[in-house]
Amino acid sequence: MTEPAVVESDFFEVIGTQRAMRRLKPDPVPEEYIKKIIWAATRAPSGGNRQGWRWLVITDPESKEKIQQWYHEGWSKMTASGYGAGTNLPEAERLSNERVMKSATYLAEHMHEVPVLILACSLTGNGDITSGSSIYPAVQNLMLAARALGLGTALTTVHRGWQKEIRELFGIPESVETAALIPLGWPKGKFGSGFRKPVEDVTYWEKWGAKKA
Ligand SMILES: Cc1cc2nc3c(=O)[nH]c(=O)nc-3n(C[C@H](O)[C@H](O)[C@H](O)COP(=O)(O)O)c2cc1C
Repeated sequence: MTEPAVVESDFFEVIGTQRAMRRLKPDPVPEEYIKKIIWAATRAPSGGNRQGWRWLVITDPESKEKIQQWYHEGWSKMTASGYGAGTNLPEAERLSNERVMKSATYLAEHMHEVPVLILACSLTGNGDITSGSSIYPAVQNLMLAARALGLGTALTTVHRGWQKEIRELFGIPESVETAALIPLGWPKGKFGSGFRKPVEDVTYWEKWGAKKA
């Protein structure tokens, strides 16, 4: 069984090196690690502290294969219709886009080999951005905790095109939104910082568009 060499505990190191890890080994993830990262997820804020999240842990090979087939079909349709073409992007963004598209295609082809898929479900997601958003801080907590333990994750949403089928497969009530599907496993590659725009480019001070000199 693969164990993390060290548990990364420097907060900013964890944040700075948490990125989408889509190439994951098939080696199993110990249950206590899964419980630990879900514990971290459930420390997140939620509207009115309603904690309307449920975490469906999927390890069954047949279920993972079904999900992979739907996911792959969805991803192929998206790319065929031009998603991620990345035309006219500045050089750094073009390169980042190329990397994302390559690794996202790899995940679509290998999703069933990932040891654990976590379906982040929202009981409070119907139609309202405020209550519906409560699931995402928890998802980010989960992914950061996984990173701290040396486990890779990626936030994915392509499965939502098959929400009806996924609800049927797992007995999820119709009122529940399957907000994110998170592959979890030991990474094949290394953690590192993804491409992000500089803080100065995305921060305005006092008035829209005003930057610090
Ligand atoms: C709302 C949302 C939906 C996403 N959906 C998908 C998805 O369906 N498939 C996928 O491979 N990545 C998905 N991602 C991951 C993004 O592609 C990724 O966070 C982004 O490219 C940055 O990658 P990096 O962390 O490796 O730099 C999603 C991210 C967010 C926030």
